[in-house]
Amino acid sequence: MLDDVRAQFPILSETAHGRPLVFLDSAASAQKPECVIEAMGHAARHCYANIHRGLYDMSERTTQAYEAVRDDVARFLNAADRREIVFTKNSTEGLNLLAHSLGNQLKPGQAVLISALEHHANIVPWLMLRERLGIELRVAPLNAAGDIDLTAYEDLLRDGRVALVSVTHMSNVLGTITPAKRLVELAHHYGAKIILDGSQSIVHRKVDVQVLGADFFVFTGHKLYGPTGVGILWGKLPLLEEMPPFLGGGDMIRSVSFKAATWADAPHKFEAGTPAILEVLGLGAAIRFVEGIGAERIETHERELVAYAQERLEGLEGVRIMGRPVERGGVFSFQVEGAHPHDLAVLLDQQGIAIRAGQHCAEPLMHELGVQATARASFAIYTTCDDIDALAHGIERTRSLLA
Ligand code: ALA
Repeated sequence: MLDDVRAQFPILSETAHGRPLVFLDSAASAQKPECVIEAMGHAARHCYANIHRGLYDMSERTTQAYEAVRDDVARFLNAADRREIVFTKNSTEGLNLLAHSLGNQLKPGQAVLISALEHHANIVPWLMLRERLGIELRVAPLNAAGDIDLTAYEDLLRDGRVALVSVTHMSNVLGTITPAKRLVELAHHYGAKIILDGSQSIVHRKVDVQVLGADFFVFTGHKLYGPTGVGILWGKLPLLEEMPPFLGGGDMIRSVSFKAATWADAPHKFEAGTPAILEVLGLGAAIRFVEGIGAERIETHERELVAYAQERLEGLEGVRIMGRPVERGGVFSFQVEGAHPHDLAVLLDQQGIAIRAGQHCAEPLMHELGVQATARASFAIYTTCDDIDALAHGIERTRSLLA
């Protein structure tokens, strides 16, 4: 049981429509433990100033605290070097940074390969790159279970024109955990660099960037129990060193004149302007919180929840779970006969149960699945089997209301 973990999330004692809150929308944004709230509040109350610029004690101490989080992230991801950690606003910014700094170096005739599982954040920057440079955008299809079709993926790489692969490590819609190591091996075999979008996987699986072997990995803080407004781009240092900056401004330069500017070294050349200082400190607390629970306990809990939810939802009349991937993280999309996903979400909300309904920022995937929208329940470290039971009862009640 994770009672000790749940006790650290003050929001879980709130009610919704007079009922105990059953929060099943953590894939959209996770709730925050007390230590994250406190880390930000403590800094704002006791030690806060702009960083990398001040010649006074409080600025220096804030800089140290901020830079210590870079060490936390490097340890958490097992990065080979702390300079491989770039603070961004979120995964979306990390992917846009890569589409510019790396993507802009592509030539017409070269291609970017994504998959049909992707979130808009890993589609739109590449559509924009295609618009800018006239490169080709290829999409690896899925099999019926909702896994990337590896044969088709390899076929799309075979002609050697794919310079860059950018794929999710875990789908925010189907929960599919993609076979990242194999995707990386194949991309490298055919001469492509590869980015993994870890926005969801970072919460559900131990991520070791050296084991995965990709070239870049992005994630966002707010899904990992941290604050909004801060994300991470990890990249292999030699690649970051070669890449030009994305945004220009203060803090990312070595020198500036009216004729030209030169850049600071990585990672600072990718961190223009005053960053999200308090949020970075909050992210550090979130990472230490997750490390304190331990990857093993998180994964065990997750596997139990996924198995329980699969059985419970499958046992309900009129419920169709989307996809049956080889490995699923704690995300289930489903449809309920006779209930539009939006109506279902509203009626569940009346019962204190928060789920997401819609396209989940993955409109092309909805087309692949042949649906307009789905209902989605997603789990976190504080989710319990009781929450899943509440969802199952809520669905039954909703069906009888709508019958
Ligand atoms: N990308 C987030 C989700 O899947 C917002 O809900």
